[in-house]
This record gives sequence, structure tokens and C-alpha cells, in this order.
Amino acid sequence: MQIVHTIDDLRTALRPFNTPALVPTMGNLHDGHLELVRAAKPLGDVTVASIFVNRLQFAPHEDFDTYPRTLQADADKLAAAGCDIVFAPSEKELYPEPQGFKVQPPTELADILEGHFRPGFFTGVCTVVMKLFQCALSEGKGTRHAVFGQKDYQQQMVIRRMVRQFALPVNIVSVATQRAADGLALSSRNGYLSETERAEAVQLSLALRALGRDALAAADGLARQLPALEERAMAGLAARGWQPDYLTVRRRSDLQAPQAGEPLVVLGAARLGKTRLIDNFEI
Ligand code: PAF
Repeated sequence: MQIVHTIDDLRTALRPFNTPALVPTMGNLHDGHLELVRAAKPLGDVTVASIFVNRLQFAPHEDFDTYPRTLQADADKLAAAGCDIVFAPSEKELYPEPQGFKVQPPTELADILEGHFRPGFFTGVCTVVMKLFQCALSEGKGTRHAVFGQKDYQQQMVIRRMVRQFALPVNIVSVATQRAADGLALSSRNGYLSETERAEAVQLSLALRALGRDALAAADGLARQLPALEERAMAGLAARGWQPDYLTVRRRSDLQAPQAGEPLVVLGAARLGKTRLIDNFEI
């Protein structure tokens, strides 16, 4: 496995290949990321993982400075998972000057849910993902691929829409959320949890599953009953000491409020102590 730190070196390393598959990450890798690499491997003729903590997608009060940077451990895990190339640029390499051009995703998809609670988040994500695609996928002559986790459900939807609207020659692949034995979705931010918080953390996924069951049981009365069901789910977590941002049921197609009979997804975000966790289930 080769580790490169500059865009030029990445392009040189990729030149012999035709169908690169990219796994964009912010590092501090866990088994969820490695599952993305395992999914990427059979897609193309070379597998690239990028590791870059993207300042643009963090608000000033968020955890950009403390986000764990663990390049050596990440590289060891990626090598064991069969990754071919790691692209780990410095901030100066990817943003040599202030990034004035940005990719602005549509309000109706990007300013709801995560985007409502993290204003500008999806602009930061789209901008860096567009840039990573330019760095890692511009050499290929065949189909290029990029792999994202379903845990960031809204993110992979926003990216799919960006790819479609800009006609980017990239096949987006989504991979199911990996979970710990108790059902907690794997996340780099789980590392922030104390032992007591870690034991409690699974309650977010349990609350989402219960809300999903309630939504399905509401059947034709879904639209009418949903606000009360969502409020009850949030109050249940709040009573356990969480600070929920949202627990909600949306239609899968565009994450807007659902009508009965549409394919649904239940999504949630809540803070436990200082740690903000997200999760979702298609129901
Ligand atoms: O999901 C992530 O880790 C990040 O949002 C991504 C896609 C690597 C962009 O920085």
C-alpha cells in the first residue's frame, strides 16, 4: 500500500489504472470504514482511501480541533483491509488558498435535519467531496466509483444529487451501517463517550426503532399521528438525559414529510453529554 500526501503524487500513482474506487474518510478509522473499503475493492482496479479532516464542514463551536487524527493506525488498518493507496493531504495541500468557490447544495435537501442543526455542513461536505473526486477520480478512463456509509444517510443522498446534477462520471455506492454487538452504530465520535455513556448510547437506535414501529402501526393515520409520535420519542430520550436534535420519520426519496404507503426512513440525532450521535433505519 502506498501513502501519498500531494495531489500530484496521487495522480501519478493512479495513472496506470482505469476504474479507481474512492473511499473518502476523515480518518480515525473503525470497522464501518473498513467495510467501505471491502465494498470498494471489487468495484474497480484500484482502491483509494482519503483521510482528511475537512475544516469546511465544521462549525466554529464543533470538534474540528479535537477530532482524532490517527494516521499511522489508520494506515495499518487500511493495509490489512486491502486498500491500495492512501491519500492523506495536509490542509495546505487541499486548501492552499481560502476555498472561495463552494458547492452549494439545494436548500430543501441540505438545510433540513443535519443541515438545520449544522448550518453549512453540506456545503462543506459537497465542496470537499467534489475536490476529492477531482483529485482521485480524474485519471480513470472507465467507470469510477465512490463509496459512502448509510449511517450518514442524508449525506449520501446529497452527494448522489450533486453527482446527478453536475453529471459527474462517478458511480456512488452506499454501504449498510456497521453496528457494535449491542446495536450502536459505529462512529469515530463513539470514542468520545465515557464508559457510562457508551452503555447508554444504544438507546438512540432503540428509540429510532420504536418510533419506526409506531409509524408503521399508524398506517393510514401516519401524517396525522407523526408529530405526536416524534415528540414522544424525543421526550423519552430527553428523560434519560439526552439532548435530542431530532427523531423523525421521512420518506426515503427526498427526506420530506411522508404520506402513508411511501417507503420510509427514520432518522435521529441527539447529544449524550458532549457527544453528538446520529443514526437511521429504513423501515
Ligand atoms: O463522512 C465523512 O467522513 C465526511 O463527511 C466525508 C464524506 C469524508 C467528507 O469530509
